Amino acid sequence: MENVYKVFGRRPKEAVKQIEAGKTRDDVKDLGTAAVIDASFDVAEGEIFVVMGLSGSGKSTLIRMLNGLWKPTAGHVRIGDDDLAQIDAAEMRALRRKRVSMVFQHFALLPHRTVLDNAAYPLEIQGIPAAERREKAQSALDMVGLGGWQDSLPSQLSGGMRQRVGLARALAADTDILLMDEAFSALDPLIRREMQEQLLELQTKLGKTIIFITHDLNEAMHLGDRIAVMRDGRVVQIGTAEEILSHPANDYVAQFIADVDRTRVLTASSVMRKPRVMVTLGGGPRVASREMTETQMPASYVVDRQRVLRGVIHADDAVRAVKAGTDSIEGYYSTDYTSVSHDTPLAELFAPSAESSLPMAVTDDEGKLIGVIPRVTLLEAMVPGDTAADSMEDVIAAENAHGTSSGAPSAQGTPNGTDDSSIPDPRDGTATEPNDGTTTEGVRS
Ligand SMILES: Nc1ncnc2c1ncn2[C@@H]1O[C@H](COP(=O)(O)OP(=O)(O)OP(=O)(O)O)[C@@H](O)[C@H]1O
Ligand SMILES: [Mg+2]
Repeated sequence: MENVYKVFGRRPKEAVKQIEAGKTRDDVKDLGTAAVIDASFDVAEGEIFVVMGLSGSGKSTLIRMLNGLWKPTAGHVRIGDDDLAQIDAAEMRALRRKRVSMVFQHFALLPHRTVLDNAAYPLEIQGIPAAERREKAQSALDMVGLGGWQDSLPSQLSGGMRQRVGLARALAADTDILLMDEAFSALDPLIRREMQEQLLELQTKLGKTIIFITHDLNEAMHLGDRIAVMRDGRVVQIGTAEEILSHPANDYVAQFIADVDRTRVLTASSVMRKPRVMVTLGGGPRVASREMTETQMPASYVVDRQRVLRGVIHADDAVRAVKAGTDSIEGYYSTDYTSVSHDTPLAELFAPSAESSLPMAVTDDEGKLIGVIPRVTLLEAMVPGDTAADSMEDVIAAENAHGTSSGAPSAQGTPNGTDDSSIPDPRDGTATEPNDGTTTEGVRS
């Protein structure tokens, strides 16, 4: 998407012109509703890109421009090399058939058709022969765990299973792009969680490009490789869950994320600090002892030349080694320490941290020491707001403060009603949309 606008109303082009000249969405409301304003982003192949924002922020409008249902008022929407504004109707049909399929919040199943025929429906519309479409639909049902249910009617299935049929229908079309608009929002929390897991699992096998819309921040953080946060038609921030949590672009985003379970999203690497002291195996006890004295640290992690973590040496033991006149710290360091992997969620760090007398060591996939987590840092990370230290001064100040929160802004705003999923979107699946019958949008229950 490149500088994309969508204005509904009497004079959309004029509205865009005025917004470009600095007018606000409110200023131009007599000209029309600016549903999407100057949206620009790329979605990479194989990525799960989540769009989130409150009701009315423009999420569905955005996704409908991606499957060509709406034409942008200004800007470009491209899929590969195709500019959706430039291609003709036949090309658009082919694009929807072969490249983009959609999963809806309200499963949109045909009640009198079997599960198999529902899953095969888009293929039927495409005129694919019966045997072939059955085979494709059956394999899609198998993928979503509904093998064996093909002859049932939708009414015989639970809500979660119906949504699986919706997903199977999108998968049967075998497009590389999946658009999912609040696809799991109508499901009970536990089933919803299950569907999220299943989607992630399928994704590792299928590698689709998925654009997933949700109100639910935890869902967004769980599923999204990257997340775009929308507010009043604008994309206000794009980033990974960690980036958004640790550096919210503005107060709006900060408020939005105030109620997220940070301990499940943030990982050790996002809160770790630079170790103040580190001793190399070959360095000898004198160097070790001096470094600990200079940094006033009672102990230091020991690494080898490749920086792989080997142990921990206490200042007393380094002194003992010096007195013993040895050249090596071999035999004077211990392997009794606590280390965690860089991708461990914060939630799993509390127990080891409580047991560790030193700041926990953080290692990368090769076992190299990449940072440490003092207990106070872990506690600070629980507070919403930007607590990630940006400079060495911050680190030192935080450690000296010892237990006092280093002025972390408390952005505990009221949660912004991030779940109104029980309210059906009246615009979802209404017959007022332009529809040439070749997309799954044509299927209604
Ligand atoms: N067909 C339309 N005609 C006029 N206005 C529209 C139309 N579709 C959407 N809008 C308006 O555009 C804005 C964005 O709507 P959109 O449906 O994209 O929001 P959303 O983020 O998907 O919201 P929700 O979470 O409720 O689904 C809203 O103000 C909405 O009223
Ligand atoms: Mg919507």
